[in-house]
Amino acid sequence: MSPIQAQHAVRGRFLDIQHSVSQASDIAQAVRYIEDGLLITVDGKIIWFGTWQEGQALLNKNVIFEHYPKQLIVPGFIDTHIHFPQTEMVGAYGEQLLEWLNTYTFPTELQFKDKAYADQIAQFFVHELLKNGTTTALVFCSVHTASVDALFEAAEQHQMRLIAGKVMMDRHAPAELCDTPESAYQDSKKLIEKWHGKGRNLYAITPRFAPTSTPEQLVKAGQLKAEYPEVYVHTHLSENKNEIAWVKELFPEQKGYLDVYHHYGLTGQRSVFAHCVHLEEEEWDCMHETNSAIAFCPTSNLFLGSGLFPLKKTWEKQVKVGLGTDIGAGTSFSQLQTLNEAYKVQQLQGNKLSAFESLYHATLGGAKALDLHDKLGNFNVGKEADFIVLDLNATALQTLRQQRTQGIEDALFALMTMGDDRNIQATYVYGERVYVKK
Ligand code: GUN
Ligand code: ZN
Repeated sequence: MSPIQAQHAVRGRFLDIQHSVSQASDIAQAVRYIEDGLLITVDGKIIWFGTWQEGQALLNKNVIFEHYPKQLIVPGFIDTHIHFPQTEMVGAYGEQLLEWLNTYTFPTELQFKDKAYADQIAQFFVHELLKNGTTTALVFCSVHTASVDALFEAAEQHQMRLIAGKVMMDRHAPAELCDTPESAYQDSKKLIEKWHGKGRNLYAITPRFAPTSTPEQLVKAGQLKAEYPEVYVHTHLSENKNEIAWVKELFPEQKGYLDVYHHYGLTGQRSVFAHCVHLEEEEWDCMHETNSAIAFCPTSNLFLGSGLFPLKKTWEKQVKVGLGTDIGAGTSFSQLQTLNEAYKVQQLQGNKLSAFESLYHATLGGAKALDLHDKLGNFNVGKEADFIVLDLNATALQTLRQQRTQGIEDALFALMTMGDDRNIQATYVYGERVYVKK
């Protein structure tokens, strides 16, 4: 066989989930673990993946080659819900959702009308994602179009696949942070035309949540989705009990919270709803029937005292789910830390979240929630080469624990319980190494 023209190759211990599954109990059979593996990429895509023994003959002499004999290489983490303008406000004390928004969030987001400020935080934000091994995220910007430009410009520097959008919000927030139905429509339309499908960037129509949009604005959001069916919808749903009661007061003619979004044409295959902690039975059914997805945000749900997300229900009801950090209500950019809390949230409900299920949610399951599973989420040939190198021994305590692990599943579970950005040795985006731990 003649050598493949390879730009990049990485050798090491690889772990991924080969295909999506419909039950948690099927995940173990979908796990692929190669002790001494080889991944070859050309122009950002995976062109070959398998064992080193089989693949070494395919390597081109001029290949850029890295060998990680002791580490673990997994697909890049996918964060299905995060707020870029809230990067600086993690750990805001003492409030639950609605008071937290008024006291901390709105004043912070006001600063993003200034493009220079937005640029500065966008650089920090993108670096922080990469440093935490997150290679794709679905991101809330602020109401200002400058915040969207700043974020996509920063992502483009690394050819990173981000989905983001301008917040639409025309009531129940400071006047300076409000748009109007018409300006939100026009601004979003311009941003879709400018950014959706440019490089790896994708756009999400982003009404903040039902209480901060008038019915007129939700009509406009639905109109945008009808005009651009390929773009995403990204919003919040059923996070906090006071929020849910407020939505019922504001939209008495709708059956419930999700029905507000459904009524305005905002549910569907590329719609992602953050939280969904307190969904009613009919709402679970609507999520399934419309093929909408949930972003499960455990650190945020605990920090704001919102509640315990019933992850098991997503399997029972066949609803897509990904993991979200929800910075700045969430407390860490790390998907490892997010999984640590996800495990505890399930423990409190008498359920077990296995290490392999956790890996699934952080990678292929997240890709599926974002309707990107044909491009991302594992090492299948043809997919985009976003992956990370995990150091399992970043601290003395981790080393002590890892020396006693019993197999790869236990090693992964220990990593997910104790790990954070210190465990990310390198991050590759579109075949290029864009971050290396110093
Ligand atoms: N609901 C509406 N806006 C927000 C927000 O910024 N963060 C969270 N966690 N929930 C919200
Ligand atoms: Zn959020």
